[in-house]
Amino acid sequence: MKQNIDWNKLSFHYTETDYVVRSACRDGVWEKPYATEDKTITLHVAATGLQYGQQVFEGLKAFRGADGQVRVFRMEENARRMARSAEGLLMTPPPVEVFCEAIRLALRKNIDFLPPYETGATLYFRPVLIATAPEIAVAPEKDCELIVIPTPIGAYFPGKFHCTPFVVERHIDRAAAFGTGQFKVGGNYASSFRATEAAHAKGFDCMFTDSKTHRYIDECSAANFIGIKGNEYLTPRSSAILPSITNDSLMTLARELGMKVTRRHIRVEELAEMDEAAACGTACVISPIGKVYDPDKEITYHFGEKPGPILTRLYHALKDIQYGRCEDKYGWCEVIKV
Ligand code: PLP
Ligand code: COI
Repeated sequence: MKQNIDWNKLSFHYTETDYVVRSACRDGVWEKPYATEDKTITLHVAATGLQYGQQVFEGLKAFRGADGQVRVFRMEENARRMARSAEGLLMTPPPVEVFCEAIRLALRKNIDFLPPYETGATLYFRPVLIATAPEIAVAPEKDCELIVIPTPIGAYFPGKFHCTPFVVERHIDRAAAFGTGQFKVGGNYASSFRATEAAHAKGFDCMFTDSKTHRYIDECSAANFIGIKGNEYLTPRSSAILPSITNDSLMTLARELGMKVTRRHIRVEELAEMDEAAACGTACVISPIGKVYDPDKEITYHFGEKPGPILTRLYHALKDIQYGRCEDKYGWCEVIKV
């Protein structure tokens, strides 16, 4: 049972809940997702998930709405992306129905951990898929297990919506140009640590450039990049970045505002022509960028101390849908009876 959680003190760290939900796949057959209080797994020491990093994950949120209803945002998109990631590592993709059933069960069994509306905190789900069969030969294995780990997380901007500084990275790559960057593979995050920790030590977040030429913007730490140039919404086209569900949603909302939406290679120097810039992802929705420092060129691109008007509008528009404060005209939220 929930101990007294101070919802206002939560941040983006793990807080244990009562149950995780699990479903194993053996010989191509998925078991019905079930809830368990056991937070540990027994894994064969030679499992390819451990040996060769055959592992992928997801991240999505449930919101308690202004109307008291509970909504999960674009869950099927996360299910589809996990399936693509699994296929990318030659794992067995969990069917969308198994993934969604596991999320709904994880929500219902941990409903006491869904933060109240007013707090801005949410219940985050971390579904992880790991290859479980033993093998030492460097080869993929098909048996795997899906585990949904719920955890309440705090409002990303507990005070006010604010800007963050970024530093351009050209010497450490997050993912290879045609490698696993487009999949949500744990190894991509491990390989980003050197760069992100070095950036943090200097007071920045990390802006990765494309690993082939280091001329184009790839991703902002673990988030997609967005630039606003006049009436244009710009976001990178790259074979190495994760197709962000938040970015996809914001592009739809930007088009609705009459903006031109362009996905193309974006040179770092083009930051000078942009009025607003941000990182976007499930955790933050939009995290506005105040400035970008390019240490190789010794240039700083400034976007101002305060979030710009277009990104602020898009941020509120998406949050209004997630919290049920406006019509969900694209059917992005599933209302879950709890
Ligand atoms: N890029 C990376 C590398 C990420 O880890 C994430 C977070 O999931 C995103 C982008 C944003 O994706 P989404 O909006 O689906 O959360
Ligand atoms: C996000 O959800 O926006 C992320 O950046 C995911 C990250 C914590 C792995």
